[in-house]
Amino acid sequence: MSKVLYIKANAKPEGESRTFRISDSLIHKYMEIHPEDEITVLDLYEENLQFLPKGKLQELRNVAGDEGRNHPILKYAYQFLEADKYIISEPIWNLGIPAILKAYIDYVAVGGITFTYTAHGPVGMCKNKKAVNIITRGGDYSSEPMESLEMADKYLRNIFHFMGITDFTTVAADRLDVITENTEEILHTAIEEAEELAMAF
Ligand SMILES: Cc1cc2nc3c(=O)[nH]c(=O)nc-3n(C[C@H](O)[C@H](O)[C@H](O)COP(=O)(O)O)c2cc1C
Repeated sequence: MSKVLYIKANAKPEGESRTFRISDSLIHKYMEIHPEDEITVLDLYEENLQFLPKGKLQELRNVAGDEGRNHPILKYAYQFLEADKYIISEPIWNLGIPAILKAYIDYVAVGGITFTYTAHGPVGMCKNKKAVNIITRGGDYSSEPMESLEMADKYLRNIFHFMGITDFTTVAADRLDVITENTEEILHTAIEEAEELAMAF
């Protein structure tokens, strides 16, 4: 049995978000194939996740063991560490990830839990895990000069790698805000890709 963490980061609710349409399709297909797996849905807006609190960073460093698992912030890092698979779902916002997702990364990328510092530099502690990132974008980042400006999927790929998760696949739906595009067709193609991925994930 695998533990799957479905991380959702969008202010738009279910039913309106195009990104969630794709990631929900992946999850539904995945659940059909792996009914025995444990899926945890982590909607960051529902969690009401805040930025790291002012003046509390030192205190966070001193929390240890079981206390950490029950801590309102560190519990997210332990939950992250204990998952086997991750599905992240977010739109690109201003060339990067939505701020709430960055706040979540600040909760889970914790030295001594999800990565550690060694004499040879930082080493990820999340081993033998896989991630799929579902991202939608209004524009097109497939070629320069836009390609270099894309810092949403690229950032997530890098920070997951930093925590040890090197098996990282992206399903992207681009050009969704280009008015001449058939957006339903773009979404349909991305949903097909996501459902196919669910079989190998
Ligand atoms: C605050 C905000 C910032 C955005 N910034 C970008 C951007 O930098 N690049 C881009 O291609 N699209 C941008 N978009 C468009 C969304 O990424 C795009 O419409 C996406 O498909 C929305 O997904 P959703 O329907 O799941 O919310 C932005 C949208 C919002 C609301």
